[in-house]
Amino acid sequence: MTAKRAKAFEKRDFPVHEIRRFLEPGPIVLVSSAWKGATNIMTMGWHTVMEFQPSLVGCVIASGNHSFEMIRRSMECVINIPTVDIAATAVKIGNCSGSDTDKFAAFGPTAEPADGVKAPTIAECFASFECRLVDAALVDTYNFFMFEVVKAHVARVPKYPKTIHYRGDGTFMVSGENTARWRRLFRPGML
Ligand SMILES: Cc1cc2nc3c(=O)[nH]c(=O)nc-3n(C[C@H](O)[C@H](O)[C@H](O)COP(=O)(O)O)c2cc1C
Repeated sequence: MTAKRAKAFEKRDFPVHEIRRFLEPGPIVLVSSAWKGATNIMTMGWHTVMEFQPSLVGCVIASGNHSFEMIRRSMECVINIPTVDIAATAVKIGNCSGSDTDKFAAFGPTAEPADGVKAPTIAECFASFECRLVDAALVDTYNFFMFEVVKAHVARVPKYPKTIHYRGDGTFMVSGENTARWRRLFRPGML
């Protein structure tokens, strides 16, 4: 039996500077850092997995952000993943600067010591990945930091946390249905 042909979309010209609204996958993360006795947090949506082993994650951290120099100098951070329960906190953290605000004190997330880096983990996030900066070659040109995740802490429940994915223009997608409906179409090595 031939598969039913999927419907074709009628597409229009679209401003290239706004295509991020369709490509930004999220989930948004809270990046915590520490440098010279101070700690900070920023919200980040522009990240991508680059390799499984070693576990590499690339992140864009704008040079105007207070976190930029803290992370560039300390060469460490923690990528924490929030759920929808603390979405408002994540937005507040992403709308002010650590240069004039102690975000842990102002917004209440609990800083806990990490195992292998000085940056703290955030207790209210369901996952925390301790990261070391392993390649800064693209930092000057693209604000692109290549991190290796050296330790991961992940809650056992829920299995599929309700993560928040930024679509731009103040709009989020909250993760929804999970399905293994197409699992049988994978080659075993691709799972
Ligand atoms: C939903 C959301 C996503 C964001 N994504 C990024 C990002 O990917 N990269 C970035 O540099 N800033 C991003 N920002 C902006 C920073 O979080 C914001 O500039 C923050 O105030 C920086 O904090 P800092 O100056 O204390 O480092 C985002 C903000 C929000 C609210």
